[in-house]
Amino acid sequence: MTASLSTMAYIGATILFILSLGGLSTPETARRGNLFGMAGMAIAVLATILGPRVTGDGVAYIVVALVIGGAIGLLAAKKVQMTQMPELVALMHSLVGLAACLVGFASYVDTSVAFTGAEKVIHEVEIYVGILIGAVTFSGSIVAFGKLSGKIGGKPLLLPGRHFLNLIALLVVVWFGREFVAAHDVSAGMTPLIVMTVISLLFGIHMVMAIGGADMPVVVSMLNSYSGWAAAATGFMLSNDLLIVTGALVGSSGAILSYIMCRAMNRNFISVIAGGFGGGAPKPKAEGGAAEPQGEVQPVGSTETAEMLREAKSVIIVPGYGMAVAQAQHTVFEITQLLREKGVDVRFAIHPVAGRMPGHMNVLLAEAKVPYDIVMEMDEINADFPEADVSMVIGANDIVNPAAQDDPSSPIAGMPVLEVWKAKTSIVMKRSMASGYAGVDNPLFYKENNRMLFGDAKKMLDEVLNALRA
Ligand code: TAP
Repeated sequence: MTASLSTMAYIGATILFILSLGGLSTPETARRGNLFGMAGMAIAVLATILGPRVTGDGVAYIVVALVIGGAIGLLAAKKVQMTQMPELVALMHSLVGLAACLVGFASYVDTSVAFTGAEKVIHEVEIYVGILIGAVTFSGSIVAFGKLSGKIGGKPLLLPGRHFLNLIALLVVVWFGREFVAAHDVSAGMTPLIVMTVISLLFGIHMVMAIGGADMPVVVSMLNSYSGWAAAATGFMLSNDLLIVTGALVGSSGAILSYIMCRAMNRNFISVIAGGFGGGAPKPKAEGGAAEPQGEVQPVGSTETAEMLREAKSVIIVPGYGMAVAQAQHTVFEITQLLREKGVDVRFAIHPVAGRMPGHMNVLLAEAKVPYDIVMEMDEINADFPEADVSMVIGANDIVNPAAQDDPSSPIAGMPVLEVWKAKTSIVMKRSMASGYAGVDNPLFYKENNRMLFGDAKKMLDEVLNALRA
């Protein structure tokens, strides 16, 4: 493939990536968006392999790497549960970071292209910054993977004087950057490069460890953004325009998503990045453990629940992480259809950080074929709860916690929540009194107009469906 044909292919791939991002902005066009992305990536990979920069044995090496990497990716995608998706995404971000580091070191030790003067400085700055972003992304994403999979606790790790430590690290990195660029040969530049890499790896760990459970959504999207910038940095190091453009697209869309997440959670972006948010609760995370009782809990059975739903004129369903765990979305839809046939107005209320990844609930409901026009964002529906006869919470917890509004000392204080308790009756479906991801007790469970339907969401909804059909 000639250089101009490969440039044309890159431009085509860039356009497809932009169309892909545009398509992913609404559920109706998301499938098309994904197809555009896949086509763009196929063109990009082919144009790179067949392009003028890969010669001789290079093609064979790339094909072998593609087969191995592709097989691992295919296997992982087939095996992963929908609830493990955020962890998989975090792992993938870490690979982008690792790739940026490896490409950085490889470009530095590769002396086949001799740079001189300003060109040398620019090339070395690209390497230094690329490895820095890559290392932060790599170690930060590994810790995020640990936190999302529950292998590392959700409580923030707050080292004494952590902002001071970060500042010192920054100054050391700048100082070694100067040393690196001033180095006359590869061996002299290697020490500052390795020191900076180690500091960046430690910074990545420290940054994500310092973030509280409730603020993890912001970290996930922030690392998504970092992985984009790491890819763009790799593009600069390899002089690959497509990687630069693609990386910038991912980097900036991730940054916008982080901003949206912060707004949804009423958090200050800088405070979240600086760490320590979302962990003020003295109580440990109690996933699987019991919360402190604060009144009477009123359990309810599936038949009684079906009765309340049948009698209602208006029902609002709030899905959360537990619906994803139980894979209850299809039963939810069957119940929805049945109630709508009986003339009940059924709508879904989606909190921006419900589940474990952006759009988690929308994906599940779309998979179950729930019509988009009854799926509402939090801002569209929150004012309607007082008019609802029943609000049905399916495996959600933090996103319906009134403590966010009533308790200024709560780690989730200030986070906007779905006001399900304002409905005439709220029914919370979960297995126990355990707290959610943020590890915070939920006073909703003890409210007078609240009922608890204990059990696995899928099993209980099957029972409710059977009772409705009876
Ligand atoms: P959570 O607050 O985590 O609550 C989920 C509840 O589901 C748990 O309390 C659990 O209670 C219940 N559950 C689990 N398995 C169940 C099953 N099989 N059947 C029925 N119930 C089940 O979820 P949420 O309300 O969706 O809030 C999301 C949380 O995750 C927020 O804190 C958010 O900040 C955080 N987070 C979100 C994201 C994104 S981007 N969405 C990313 C990372 C973290 P039992 O154990 O008693 O059943």
